[in-house]
Amino acid sequence: MNKDLLMWDETLFKDPDLFELDHIPEYFAHRESQMQALMYCVRPAMRGARPVNAFCIGPPGTGKTTAIHKLFEEIEKSTPKVIPVHINCQTNSTRFTVYSRIYKKLFNIAPPSSGVSFQKINEKITSHLADEEKILVAVLDDINYLMHEGEHDKVLYSLLRAHETNPGARIGVINILSDTGMGFHFDPKVESVLLAEEIKFPRYTGDEIRDILINRNKLGFYNDVVGPDVMDKVVEYTELLGDLRVGIDLFKRSGLNAERRASRTIELEDVDKAYETSRLVHLTYLLKSLKNEEKTLLELICKHTEIKTGELYNGFHDKTGLGYTRYYETLEKLSALKLINASFTGKGTRGRSRIITLRYSADEITKRLS
Ligand SMILES: Nc1ncnc2c1ncn2[C@@H]1O[C@H](COP(=O)(O)OP(=O)(O)OP(=O)(O)O)[C@@H](O)[C@H]1O
Ligand SMILES: [Mg+2]
Repeated sequence: MNKDLLMWDETLFKDPDLFELDHIPEYFAHRESQMQALMYCVRPAMRGARPVNAFCIGPPGTGKTTAIHKLFEEIEKSTPKVIPVHINCQTNSTRFTVYSRIYKKLFNIAPPSSGVSFQKINEKITSHLADEEKILVAVLDDINYLMHEGEHDKVLYSLLRAHETNPGARIGVINILSDTGMGFHFDPKVESVLLAEEIKFPRYTGDEIRDILINRNKLGFYNDVVGPDVMDKVVEYTELLGDLRVGIDLFKRSGLNAERRASRTIELEDVDKAYETSRLVHLTYLLKSLKNEEKTLLELICKHTEIKTGELYNGFHDKTGLGYTRYYETLEKLSALKLINASFTGKGTRGRSRIITLRYSADEITKRLS
């Protein structure tokens, strides 16, 4: 028997949980200033005052949600008076469901699903906070989804003016926006009461990615499973897409690929093969923050293997009623996000005509848009 081969009951993974995307890492480095800023915002609540509102903004996979989990650990360690609630706006994308989530956290039971008005739920929440002298810190994670539904102003307005319903109710809000360059907009009425502290989460640098991934590797794999060239490759791919999830997912899939070959080490070919799937992890997160007209345009592009800009504009205009300027901006945005290639044809007198092609398979995109 070849002892270099991995036996069927052996594994390369010391702790597979480390490579799950919802794992909360013990080691959360390179986000000290953001953690400090978040603590600063919540500090007034520790003394019974209303927290400072915050607005965390940064590209996908830059540690925003993780920072919130770390903040919650700190709050829960320090005082039972401050109640932090994490609201995933992807699954709670209306005012009613956001408030249901808060209700559930406060009362440990979901509100009745029918026959109860938003006002009733709001009243119950605010009077509970006032009577119990508790302070709520509501985190609207991936507020992008509320924006898609046009619900964000309504939700924020209700949360920020809770003390008007009940003067004793104190609520702080932390908004989290996954920023892919699309810009955003709050109603001036909301803006004037929000007065949020902006906390930026920039993309990690190559060195930071390396440091974080070295640590994951040490805890997650047995010694010597990942050699230096494999580490370089994983860092390189992760930096290319700027989303730490890609690196974590690459480790997991490369490890499984190596196991399938009964190898005791991960090789470059395992990483390259894994990348075909791991880059789609990033795609999923990218697509979720697109605006409706951006999705429409992308869907149109998906229907062709290649299409000229003029022809594409006609389809876009028919579907959305939008004009050429918006069309052009939308196209530029999809190109900046590296979802499409837009290359000049170089043919004909109208040299400005460009050919649009997808950088991902149409199937993979369509599946994630529906
Ligand atoms: N500084 C860090 N140290 C260790 N792991 C990290 C760090 N930052 C992020 N991660 C890991 O990267 C993954 C993505 O992080 P996270 O979910 O916090 O990103 P995000 O900024 O909320 O992204 P999105 O905008 O797409 O929601 C998680 O699995 C998390 O464990
Ligand atoms: Mg997140």
